[in-house]
Amino acid sequence: MTKLVILLIIAAANCQELDWWEGGNFYQIYPRSYMDSDGDGIGDLQGIKSKLAYVKGLGMDGVWLSPIYKSPQADFGYDISDYRGINAEYGTLEDFDEVIAECERLQLKLILDFVPNHTSDEHEWFNKSEASVPGYEDYYIWRDGKIDPYTNLLVPPTNWISFFRYSAWRWSNIRKQFYLHQFHYKQPDINYRSPKLVQEMKDVLSYWMQKGVAGFRIDIIVCLFEKMFEDGTFPDEPIDNPNCDYNDPCYLNHIYTQDQNETYDMAYQWRELLDNFKILNGGDTRIMMTESYAAVEKAQRFYGDGDRKGSYVPFNFEIIKNLNQNSTAKDYKNTIDSWLDHMPKKTGIQANWVLGNHDQHRAASRLGVDRGDLLNILVQTLPGIAITYQGEELVMTNVHLTWEQTVDPQACNTHDPVNYESSSRDPARTPFPWDDTKNGGFSTNDTTWLPAGKNYETVNVKAQEAATNSHLKIFRRLTTIRKQPVFRQGTYAGTLLNNDNVFAYKREYENQVAVILLNFGTTQQTVNVTSAFSGVPAQLKIYTSSLSSGMTNGADVLSTNVVIGKDIGVVLLSSTVSAEY
Ligand code: NOJ
Ligand code: MG
Repeated sequence: MTKLVILLIIAAANCQELDWWEGGNFYQIYPRSYMDSDGDGIGDLQGIKSKLAYVKGLGMDGVWLSPIYKSPQADFGYDISDYRGINAEYGTLEDFDEVIAECERLQLKLILDFVPNHTSDEHEWFNKSEASVPGYEDYYIWRDGKIDPYTNLLVPPTNWISFFRYSAWRWSNIRKQFYLHQFHYKQPDINYRSPKLVQEMKDVLSYWMQKGVAGFRIDIIVCLFEKMFEDGTFPDEPIDNPNCDYNDPCYLNHIYTQDQNETYDMAYQWRELLDNFKILNGGDTRIMMTESYAAVEKAQRFYGDGDRKGSYVPFNFEIIKNLNQNSTAKDYKNTIDSWLDHMPKKTGIQANWVLGNHDQHRAASRLGVDRGDLLNILVQTLPGIAITYQGEELVMTNVHLTWEQTVDPQACNTHDPVNYESSSRDPARTPFPWDDTKNGGFSTNDTTWLPAGKNYETVNVKAQEAATNSHLKIFRRLTTIRKQPVFRQGTYAGTLLNNDNVFAYKREYENQVAVILLNFGTTQQTVNVTSAFSGVPAQLKIYTSSLSSGMTNGADVLSTNVVIGKDIGVVLLSSTVSAEY
């Protein structure tokens, strides 16, 4: 009996089975721009369904859809008027069921965007709350205004500024009070101090889990709670940057409208709900991915505090926040170390790596077009989870849109036809290029909600499939090799080489070794890998490298002498790693 128990314990300790999300590969789809099935110029669910095999073929484990719910589209779906319905432009609940079924067939997990901070002002709850219908009065954050002592005019209760500029408060002529909106005025903030509302939102999560989704990306979770005094009033925020326009969010230091303790508590409650759902209903782990651009320590609080479990994936935005086209090998290493070093020392959590999303300019445009493949190599070979925004696999770049073509409220609210583009998120939201036909094969309509980038004739899936080598083919080699234990479970050791021009790291698992070299310098470098890492065989094989590297997959190199060009990344493997060449 005792022997049996001991054997079982040994078996458990040796068991290297990972849960599906651990070391997982995730892909973000922006539904409006992925594929239009009905020719109205707007992407939709049937379009997505028809392309899920492509996503699976990229080597993905999970796919996150930006919001598909009923919405007036003031913020392109992040303003939801019915959490349980599908936006008619995108399809119906039946179409959604077909998407889920297709995901199941392909063994792809579906993650939905959960937008808990605000609804649309066209949500039934808001209408009821504005009309003070009993039971709904406190669903949103309503406050009286103040009388300005100088002008004698009624002004908002605090100086808070919306992410999209101007006051975060708007007057309601119906309720005769102000309501809070941290984003567009058509996105009123929900009141998480109302227990009934808290339950409503939990029910929304359960509803979609019943329908078969594998988890949620949680939108702007940092804003759930605002600091409130006992009398129900709120404090003004201090000025952070007097050089910013006073209508701009960068003017204030958001210490009272973001990252409050209660917010983390709500995140842990949601994690518990997801985990309990699995206990009660079976099936695979349901995950949550949390959006926070706060400092590492705050973003990582979403991993959980003490015994309380939190986000499975607190998005790691360090690359987005810290790096640009001029960033050096040292900048990259510091940024990566910062996330890894800060991670709480507990089991059951994973690092994750992100280059971009629908809110940022294209990764290649921000971080260097010539570094496109290098960046994908980085994200796919670091330890933990990789997250790709649609188009990064093709190394898509920003699409320039005129002021007249611009629709993003964040850009429109600048009222600045000259400098709007730095605020606009549209350059990264244009239609996905499938081939070289009209609109890049995205839609048959003469016009699409945003125009396709002009370079779709060369930068598209079909062309990159047909080419002998391409960004897409490199990407796929990366996602394939990533499934090997050396990447899924291997140790990680990183260093700077060649006068800090090269960032190098070794992944190791049992007798398998992978070495990744990334040359951020301005000249070609000859790297001696053995001088940097122990346990590297004298010869390594080139598994894949940047498109313009001049290197050949499958070629042997001497570990003491690897020649690597500027902006080039290369993945080198020991012969013990099982790989196709
Ligand atoms: C973050 C989303 O990613 C962004 O697109 C949106 O505008 C805001 N949250 C508000 O929901
Ligand atoms: Mg359509």
